[in-house]
Amino acid sequence: MINFEYHNPTKIVFGKDQYNRLPELIKSVTTGKNILITYGGGSIFKNGIYDKAIAHLSEFEIVEFGGIEANPEFDTLMKAVEICRTQKIDFILAIGGGSVIDGTKFICGATHYASDPWEVLERKPGCAFEKAIPFGSILTLPATGSEANSGAVISRSSLKTKRTMGGPNFFPAFSICDPTAVASLPKRQIANGIVDAFVHTLEQYLTYPTDNLLQERQAEAILSTLIEIGPKVMENPANYELAANLMWCATHALNGNLRCGVPTDWATHMIGHELTALFGIDHARTLAIIGPRLFENQFEIKKEKLTQYGKRVWNLSGDENQIAKAAIEKTESFYQSLGIETRLGDYTSEHQATGQLIKDRFEEREWLRMGEKQSITPEVAKNIVIASI
Ligand code: NZQ
Ligand code: ZN
Repeated sequence: MINFEYHNPTKIVFGKDQYNRLPELIKSVTTGKNILITYGGGSIFKNGIYDKAIAHLSEFEIVEFGGIEANPEFDTLMKAVEICRTQKIDFILAIGGGSVIDGTKFICGATHYASDPWEVLERKPGCAFEKAIPFGSILTLPATGSEANSGAVISRSSLKTKRTMGGPNFFPAFSICDPTAVASLPKRQIANGIVDAFVHTLEQYLTYPTDNLLQERQAEAILSTLIEIGPKVMENPANYELAANLMWCATHALNGNLRCGVPTDWATHMIGHELTALFGIDHARTLAIIGPRLFENQFEIKKEKLTQYGKRVWNLSGDENQIAKAAIEKTESFYQSLGIETRLGDYTSEHQATGQLIKDRFEEREWLRMGEKQSITPEVAKNIVIASI
C-alpha cells in the first residue's frame, strides 16, 4: 500500500431538519457575529432552504452575497472579497452546490491575500493563500464533494480559463447535508451529480490493481450504488431514501477517503475543465465526453483494472479484452441513460482545433505528464480530445 496521510476535519451533519444546529455549529468555530451568507442564482429562495436556515440565525449580523454562477467567476467572487474586507466578516455560510461552496473557499482565502489572488490560481511560485476566513456549508446539490473536501475550481471567462486551488484551510468547518434538497433539483443537475460522483470514484479507482483491498471495494461500492439508484433518483427525486443514498455516495466519492494508499488519475477532470472553460459545458458533461475516450486511449495501461471493474461492478464475463472493452461501453451507456450526451460534437460545432488548443495550454503550464502512469502527455490529451468529437 502506498504511504498516505488522511485528515478530514469537516463535521458532516446529515439528514433532515438539522438547520437548528446552525448557531451551535457556527459558535464552535467563531466568537464573531458578522456572518456572510453566500448563494447562487436564487434556487435557495424557491425551495425554502434559505428560510429554513435564516430562521435560526437571528443572533448574528447577517450580510448576504448572491449571484455566484455555476462555474464560479473570479470577477464576481472579488466583489464578495471586498465585502468581507470592509464589513469585517467573521464567518461565511455557503448555501448551494459545488459552485457556491467552491466560490466561498476562494473568497475565504482571497480576503486575506495582499496582492492579486489570481496569481495563486495560476500557481505562481511562492504564491499561496496562507490564511482563510472560517466557513461552513449547507449543501443543496449532491455532486462535487466540495462540502467535505479542501479543493475548489474557479473560472475566469475573460481568459476562457478554469483553475483549481485548495489547501488545509479550505475544508468547511461543517456541512449540513439535507437530502430533501434533491427534490427541487432539475433532472439535468441530478444527472450531472450522479456522473460527477461516478467519475470522481473512477479517477481514484480505474488505474491499475493495488493491494489496497478496502479502498478498491469502497470504490466499487460507490459505483454499484450509483448504478443502482441513479436512474431511480432521476425518476423520483423526492424519495428521501434514494436522495440520501445519492448524497452520501457523492460526499464519499471525494472526501479524501478513496485516494488513501492508491494511485490516482485525474486527467479526465483536467481535460474536462478546459472544455467547460472554452465552451461552458456543464462540468459533469465534460467528464462524460472525455472519460470513455481516455479509457480507450489508455486501454493497455488500464486493462487489468477495467477488467476488475467490468467483473465486479458490471457483472461481465468473457476474456480480459472483451470485459475491459465492454466495461467502457457500459460506462458510456450509463451516462447516456441519464440523458447525458457523450460527444463533444453534441454540445458545440465550434470544436475545430480544440485538441491542439488544449495541448498548447498544457504545455504552457508544463503539465507534461498526467495520469497514474504519467503517460498522458499534452499530445495524448490532444488525441483524446480529437477522439471525443
Ligand atoms: O445557483 P442556484 O440558483 O443555486 O442554482 C444552481 C445552479 O444553477 C442549481 N441548484 C443547486 N441546488 C439546487 C439547485 N436548483 C434547484 N434546487 C436545488 N436544491 O444547480 C445549478 C448548478 O449548481 P452548481 O453548484 O454549479 O453545480 P455543482 O454542484 O455540480 O458544481 C459544479 C462546480 O463544482 C466544481 C465544478 O468544476 C463546477 O465549477 N467542482 C468542484 C469540485 C470540488 N470542490 O471538489 C470537484 C469537482 O470535480 C468539480 O470540478
Ligand atoms: Zn468532478
